[in-house]
Amino acid sequence: MAEPLLLSTWHFGQIANRAGWPHLLAPDGSALDAVEQACRAVEEDPRVTSVGYRGLPDLKGQVSLDAAIMLSPNRCGAVAYVRRFVEVISIARRVMEQTPHVLLVGEGAEIFAQSQGFRPRSPRADERTAELALCEHHGAEDREAIHARDPRHPHVKDGETSPEAHSGLAADGGRDADSSHDTIGVIARDCRGTLAAGCSTSGLAGKMPGRVGDSPIVGHGLYVDPGVGAAVATGHGELMMAICGSFLAVEGMRRGLSPQEAIAEVLRRIAECIPDRGDRQAAFIALDKAGKWAAGAMRPGFQVAVRTPAGEQLVIPDLVFSDGSD
Ligand code: GLY
Repeated sequence: MAEPLLLSTWHFGQIANRAGWPHLLAPDGSALDAVEQACRAVEEDPRVTSVGYRGLPDLKGQVSLDAAIMLSPNRCGAVAYVRRFVEVISIARRVMEQTPHVLLVGEGAEIFAQSQGFRPRSPRADERTAELALCEHHGAEDREAIHARDPRHPHVKDGETSPEAHSGLAADGGRDADSSHDTIGVIARDCRGTLAAGCSTSGLAGKMPGRVGDSPIVGHGLYVDPGVGAAVATGHGELMMAICGSFLAVEGMRRGLSPQEAIAEVLRRIAECIPDRGDRQAAFIALDKAGKWAAGAMRPGFQVAVRTPAGEQLVIPDLVFSDGSD
């Protein structure tokens, strides 16, 4: 018997863990059920403004959702650019279980979701979140130009928007000043030692319409090799996508690195490949098949919600990338 374990990104990972944990303990429960229900709880929670129902909008003010779920290289499913359904992690699972494909996008994913009995329901950012999304992505200096192009966003002076918007939502599950709190990424290990991973997001705040990030792409946002381990990513998808971040973390463990060493290698690779990354965040959780886990990030601020039979903890990982210059 393996010890069950549930690891979820950010403080809203606590919402995920609360929903997922009972599925790891149930006699017929599984890591896959735990991951699905963990992500789904965050998708449905209106306090979380970067995933699911209240997701972050794109440049046109529309929310599109991406998700993926994975048991192994041969058992994974994903959806991207979904605008008419909220429970995208469950739709991704159906792609894995009911189709010969891995990834469905846009209208095709929505037609499939409807055929599977999911209820059409468009995610909607609230107005304050939409405003913040535009400002975060384009910078305060471009704010006037953005508003001029899109009359749906009311004119707001600098001093009026930022402090209020950045105060975010309530601590449990809400956003705070760090805009990189984006994806719910979950890794589970059940009593049989089965590993599963999933992620769900509305993607980058103020993204170009049609942009898809790392989360629904196997190898970038998540990866599971049952004989080695699992990894999930959160942060600016373009950083993970430059280096196949989650795949690289699992491959590091395959070569004998510990989860911590594997993540450190991935962070170094991002730094080498993207010297002009600015302050963009990239963060990872990795778990090996023996149950050892680690987390790390390019920048401070990352948190991991950790659930074991001993209880729940919100952990701030020690591993934060440093290029030695500080
Ligand atoms: N990590 C989520 C995204 O960049 O879309």
